[in-house]
Amino acid sequence: MIILDETLLINQGTVRACYHHPHNSSLAIKVPMGCKKDREQANQIELNGYQALMREHKDLSCISHCYGIEPTNHGDGLVCDCICDSDGSVSKSILDLIHSDPPPNLPYVKKVVQELVKYILENNIHIFDLNLKNIVLQQQSDTTYKPIIIDLKGGYELKEFIPLAKYIPYFRRKKLERRCRQLLERTDRYCQKRNSEL
Ligand SMILES: Nc1ncnc2c1ncn2[C@@H]1O[C@H](COP(=O)(O)OP(=O)(O)O)[C@@H](O)[C@H]1O
Ligand SMILES: [Mg+2]
Repeated sequence: MIILDETLLINQGTVRACYHHPHNSSLAIKVPMGCKKDREQANQIELNGYQALMREHKDLSCISHCYGIEPTNHGDGLVCDCICDSDGSVSKSILDLIHSDPPPNLPYVKKVVQELVKYILENNIHIFDLNLKNIVLQQQSDTTYKPIIIDLKGGYELKEFIPLAKYIPYFRRKKLERRCRQLLERTDRYCQKRNSEL
């Protein structure tokens, strides 16, 4: 069993906490927070979503890759790539980066998100949970950012009562376009707000 202690904690989302892998610095492990059923199922949902994406696309460099589920002292953990900047620090989510100090180049952040959206739509990549905390911007040694999606639950966990998007390509595409539009709008809004505070 993998033992995770609090010194390894990277961050928490709404249903899972993410830790550094104690034996491999290039990996992270996500474990459920609490014991509600949906929290415990999140890792399996993400792994299913990841496998579906890999069947459709073969080669995706804009996601963190998943390697399976392993028992830990915090329950079953999903092992995946730990996304780090060129200086070795864990990459920041779009939201954290917008609010970081010193502030980033906000027009450039917006441009990187626009390019990601273009790539997702052109390649019809079915990732729907495109919120500003589920995408990190990995800083490269030349200080450019590479966007990487680190939470792939959305593809399978379509919460609609009748999940039209899951079964009908037309609705799936419309949903993807809607989610991409929302991502752009939110990025714009948060960048504008941050800019007004500077
Ligand atoms: N592969 C990863 N590399 C680096 N940090 C990660 C990774 N996966 C998750 N994180 C961090 O952990 C947080 C929660 O992860 P996430 O998968 O979004 O959990 P939740 O299912 O609760 O939304 C993220 O916002 C991010 O800060
Ligand atoms: Mg998340």
